[in-house]
Amino acid sequence: MGQTLDWGKRYLMVAPDHFRVDYEINPFMHLADQPDPAATRAEWDAIAAAITAAGGEVEVLPQRADAPDMVYAMNLGFALEGPVGPEVVLSHMRFPQRRMETETAEAWFGEHGATVRRIGAQGVGAHFEAGDAFAWRGDLVVGYGPRTDRLALKHLAIDLDVRVHGLHTVHPGMYHLDLAFCPLDSERALVCPSALDENSASRLLDLVPEPLVLSEAEAMTFCANSVVVGSTVIMPACPDRVRARLEAWGFEVVVVPVPEFVKGGGAIRCLTNPLDVTLGRDLVTGRGQVLVG
Ligand code: ARG
Repeated sequence: MGQTLDWGKRYLMVAPDHFRVDYEINPFMHLADQPDPAATRAEWDAIAAAITAAGGEVEVLPQRADAPDMVYAMNLGFALEGPVGPEVVLSHMRFPQRRMETETAEAWFGEHGATVRRIGAQGVGAHFEAGDAFAWRGDLVVGYGPRTDRLALKHLAIDLDVRVHGLHTVHPGMYHLDLAFCPLDSERALVCPSALDENSASRLLDLVPEPLVLSEAEAMTFCANSVVVGSTVIMPACPDRVRARLEAWGFEVVVVPVPEFVKGGGAIRCLTNPLDVTLGRDLVTGRGQVLVG
């Protein structure tokens, strides 16, 4: 087994006080298929309990009544534990229906002592949704296409002083990278190549020494939309083949089904935003650089 991830112990979650499907901005959302509030709450509680049981911590932000998708806390911004304290790059959501979430996120991170940045603060207007961004082996891996603009990659590289690997997402059902990629430890990750164009798929596979390659059908169970707390993988679903490999690698698999949240197009990673991510900003090479295509 590689070394356990040095992040993934502390999460921000948004209490599902106003979760609804008020509009359709991904292929899973249907106005006619509304989440049940009691079942929603039970699923959310089960995720928080699983994180705590695995040794993690959960901080809770109340949900704005006018922001039904705010439960998907991963999209509020990309948070980091920087060298001099917490930092966040707030999302600039693709769809106006979600943009008010950023104001609440800005206030919360500010109150929690974070250095707050907005992507494209100079009015460039690049969209960035943090569900597309992952720290991976000292660099940032960022999906672009359906939600995040390619232009955002340069802002991230410069603002965070890191190397960014941009991956072009082409699968409409895997519209955020967190539906197709999940770091497991320092060497291993779940990877679904069919989310990406050919070039990006092979670049992502090159970045992961030991990938657990998911078929498109496996990824569409949302199994990559999982969180890893130490050696525990908390998953909304886990195909048998994937479970066997994870267990052979020494991970404990905890399945917490979240069918109500899948009605909004998200699962466990989308509902949780790690606050303790660190990046290799002490690297000498590659800082501020973007690698695409
Ligand atoms: N309804 C939300 C949207 O389409 C779901 C967000 C899922 N979040 C994620 N990190 N993949 O924006």
